[in-house]
Amino acid sequence: TTKKKLIAGNWKMNGSLAANEALLKALLAGVGAPGCEVAVCVPAPYLAQVQSLVAGSPIALGAQDLSAQAQGAFTGEQSAAMLKDFGVRYAIVGHSERRQYHGETDEAVAAKTAIALANGITPIVCVGETLAEREAGRTEEVVKRQLAAVIHVNGHCISEIVVAYEPVWAIGTGKTATPAQAQAVHAVLRAQLHHAASEHAAGIRILYGGSMNAANAAELLAEADIDGGLIGGASLKAPDFLQIIAAAR
Ligand code: G3H
Repeated sequence: TTKKKLIAGNWKMNGSLAANEALLKALLAGVGAPGCEVAVCVPAPYLAQVQSLVAGSPIALGAQDLSAQAQGAFTGEQSAAMLKDFGVRYAIVGHSERRQYHGETDEAVAAKTAIALANGITPIVCVGETLAEREAGRTEEVVKRQLAAVIHVNGHCISEIVVAYEPVWAIGTGKTATPAQAQAVHAVLRAQLHHAASEHAAGIRILYGGSMNAANAAELLAEADIDGGLIGGASLKAPDFLQIIAAAR
């Protein structure tokens, strides 16, 4: 297919006005005309700052989460419409840190996916097994269940989602999945997408996330079903993030 890869940085709860400006200035100076799509998913308080810094550049703006509700008495939440107000193009949904620390269920992830799509925001839906699940031989079962929750709710517009496979044991640990380990799971997810939406499956991007860095990005991105990356730690260092972008051609 001709789909472009997507390299998305997830800053998580890091940054400051000064640090964000320095990081983005360095990224904008080095990114040129990238051979892939690029996004940064920033903490909500910095959406306005980053929107203006990346305006007119090849770097798209992303959020790290959104509310499953449209509006109303949901203290602390941000709606899809609010994110749209700041030019947000992507929203991470169901990150393992949200599932683990905020009790996000498959049902909540499905509802967030639906409301993102309804508002023209591309959800980056995260799936991935824990170390205990991998060691118990349950990896396929877990990621298929997580993806099924989203497919079944959104059967009609599934072509608009991005999937991110993030093995929990590889996140922030420096323990990357090997390209073969990652590709094996990506192939499972691709097959599931084919089954659910055969005409769209090849065009849906499946990103890998989990200790992806400047040194290992090229070999991961060379795998047939790895269509980009969701990058945490390495997205906070401009030279590293730029090298990953350069590897995604
Ligand atoms: O969303 C990004 C992932 O959780 C990966 O984080 O690159 O720091 O391991 P990491």
